[in-house]
Amino acid sequence: MPISPQELITNLGDLPPLPQVAAQVLRIAADPDASTDELQKVIGTDQALSAQILKIANSAMFGMVREVTTLTQAIMTLGFSTIKSIVIASSAKNLYSRGAAGLQERLMWEHALVSAIAGRAYGRALRFPRTEEVFLAALMHDIGKSVMAIKFPERYGVLMRTVYNEQGDGLSLELDTFGFDHAMVGEALLHSWNIAASIEQAARWHHDPIQAPVEHRNLVAIVALGNQLALSQNIGIGRVESLATATEEALEILGIDASTLEAHQETALEALERDKSLISDF
Ligand SMILES: [Fe+2]
Ligand SMILES: [Fe+2]
Repeated sequence: MPISPQELITNLGDLPPLPQVAAQVLRIAADPDASTDELQKVIGTDQALSAQILKIANSAMFGMVREVTTLTQAIMTLGFSTIKSIVIASSAKNLYSRGAAGLQERLMWEHALVSAIAGRAYGRALRFPRTEEVFLAALMHDIGKSVMAIKFPERYGVLMRTVYNEQGDGLSLELDTFGFDHAMVGEALLHSWNIAASIEQAARWHHDPIQAPVEHRNLVAIVALGNQLALSQNIGIGRVESLATATEEALEILGIDASTLEAHQETALEALERDKSLISDF
C-alpha cells in the first residue's frame, strides 16, 4: 500500500520552492491588467533568464526576420503565455539538473523537453484546445524524480542506475524502496507551487491516466503519449515497454486506435525535428 499524502509530506520535509522570479512572472501573467513593462522589470532582475528568453525569441522556432535584441521586444514577439512557459521551463530545468544525482542530468532535462514538444504536437493533432498547458504539464511530469534525487541522493541514485541499466521498473522500485513514487512526489511539489491543477494531475497520473479526474483526463492522456514518444526515441531513463498500460489507457481516453496514434506519431516526430534547436539552446 502506498502511504497517504500526509505521510508523504512528512517524509519529504521541505520541498524546493518555486524560484521567486518565476512566482512573480506567474502572478503578472495571470493579471489581465499587467503590462509588458512590468513583466520586463521582473525578468530583467534575472540575467540568465533574460539571456535565455532572448535566445529563444531568436531561435529557429520563431523564424524571426529581424533580430530580437531587447527583452521588451522579446516579450512582444513571444507573448505573455510563451514567456510564462519559458520561465517555468527554466525553473524546471534547474530542478531537473540539480536532482539527477550526478546521473544523466542532461538526459532528464531532454526527456522533459522532448515529452513537452511531442505532447504539444499530439495536442495540436488531436485538436486539444489548450496545447500550451500540455507543453507545461509534460515538461513537469517527472519533476518528482528530481525531488526524490535531491531528498535521497544515495538511495535514489542507486535506484536510477538500476533503472538506467534496465534492471528494474522505476515506479515499482520507487514504491518498494520508499513507499511512494515520483508521480506522488511530483503532485505534492506542484501543489505547493500552485501553478495549475491540470499540471499537478499530469504529474500524478501520467503512468495511469484513467485515474485522473475527468476534467483533466484528456490532457493527462496526451502527456502520457508525449512521455511515451520520448522514451521510444530513447530520450529518458527507463524502457518504453514499461509505459504499455499508460499508452493503452491514453488511447482509450482519447478514443483513437493504434493506427491513428501512428499517424500522429509522425507529426510529433516532425515537430521534434523542427524544434531541435530549442532543445539544444535551452
Ligand atoms: Fe514518470
Ligand atoms: Fe517520463
